[in-house]
Amino acid sequence: MEKFVINGGKPLTGEVSISGAKNAAVAILPATILAADKCVIENLPAISDVTVSLQILSALGARVRMLNKNTYEIDTTHVCCTEVPDDLSRQMRASYYFLGALLGRFGSAQVAMPGGCNLGPRPIDQHLKAFCALGARDSVEYGMINVSGEELAGAHVFFDTVSVGATMNAMLSAVLAGGQTVLENVAKEPHIVDLANFLNMMGADVRGAGTDVIKVRGREALHGCTYSIIPDQIEAGSYMVAAAITGGNVLIKNVIPKHLEPITAKLELAGATVEEYDDAVRVYRTGDLAATKIKTMPHPGFPTDMQPLMTVLLSVAQGTSIITEGIWENRFRYVDELVRMGANIQVDGQVAVIEGVQELQPAPLRASDLRAGAALVMAALAARGTSEIDEVSHIERGYESLVEKLQGLGADIRREEKASAVLPQAL
Ligand code: EPU
Repeated sequence: MEKFVINGGKPLTGEVSISGAKNAAVAILPATILAADKCVIENLPAISDVTVSLQILSALGARVRMLNKNTYEIDTTHVCCTEVPDDLSRQMRASYYFLGALLGRFGSAQVAMPGGCNLGPRPIDQHLKAFCALGARDSVEYGMINVSGEELAGAHVFFDTVSVGATMNAMLSAVLAGGQTVLENVAKEPHIVDLANFLNMMGADVRGAGTDVIKVRGREALHGCTYSIIPDQIEAGSYMVAAAITGGNVLIKNVIPKHLEPITAKLELAGATVEEYDDAVRVYRTGDLAATKIKTMPHPGFPTDMQPLMTVLLSVAQGTSIITEGIWENRFRYVDELVRMGANIQVDGQVAVIEGVQELQPAPLRASDLRAGAALVMAALAARGTSEIDEVSHIERGYESLVEKLQGLGADIRREEKASAVLPQAL
């Protein structure tokens, strides 16, 4: 068990470079199966969700070779197994992308009901709807999802809800299906476009990614390629919040400023200054933070994954802020931890009302999920004094070298082994 020890209250200054996007990487890695060939994937973030994805690929029979910390060669020629090991798929939500990729190449896939952050109910009915429209059958037995369908055929799918995962999985299963698939009411996140670009580099014909309608013309076969993953929008947004909440001045490099616009707009309303460059943004704040209203929505709306980070920021803004969570039913569980730090936040269902306080107090804290954990790191960086955050493995699922990157910005943060409790000897 590891913990972060943070001595907060210092403005962060300097430069930080953003890693590849987690939510693109966890779809692109399974997608290499569709090539039945060698792919070189660059700019992979060194995070545990990527490690688990690579372990699953190896377990299925792929040859995985590390070329450097962020570049892997993956040869999926000899993949033959279609069952993802239960212990691995439970470790991350995104293991469901192996359903689409294995179904697309082999006409069959078995994956355990996925794990990942607990944000309320996380159904996959829309993923299954797309697979079934293409001619597959699905069943759940002993906690395993089975999908099978030897001759997948293009189809028209109208999604009932906008889902990142269902959109990606539908693309994965359609690129080798016969004929044309039309996907309507799809998600438009930057990682959707990144997956489509990767599939097209492998020879697929995917058009319209980034709009509401994606059209896929099935191909006979795909081939290997070299591909570099886009920068992580949420990691970048997290450092933007770190700069704003500590009253610092940080140049955040290797970003696509267009992807950050929904975050930039809210940070500016909250009192930060954001300067945009070609592939960097500078964030600084000299005046007070101001209250604002936010509602999370599918892209290009404000991203739900930034919601906990903005709650932390607005907890020290002057006035009353209102945050409405529009994607997940239960994404305010971390608020109890902020209240322990002196924040004044009332949650009613999917709405949080935040009365800004002068400052947060240090406290012992527990990360309940990935983004909540990152938000607590920002809260601890702002609070003068020493905070300790437990269960940081949640955070390390999605942030490459968080401690080192924050240290590079002058933060007083270290990672420590947590001493395990010693049970008293029985008398
Ligand atoms: N939904 C359904 N049925 C489905 C799929 C989704 O009802 O079949 C609902 C969900 O319950 C939710 C909404 O649709 O209310 C959106 O869910 P979506 O499918 O878009 O989420 P996801 O694909 O499971 C990804 C990210 C999440 C991010 C959401 C929303 C990955 C691996 N995860 O999840 O990221 O919050 O999109 O943008 O890409 C994170 O990185 O911390 C994280 C949780």
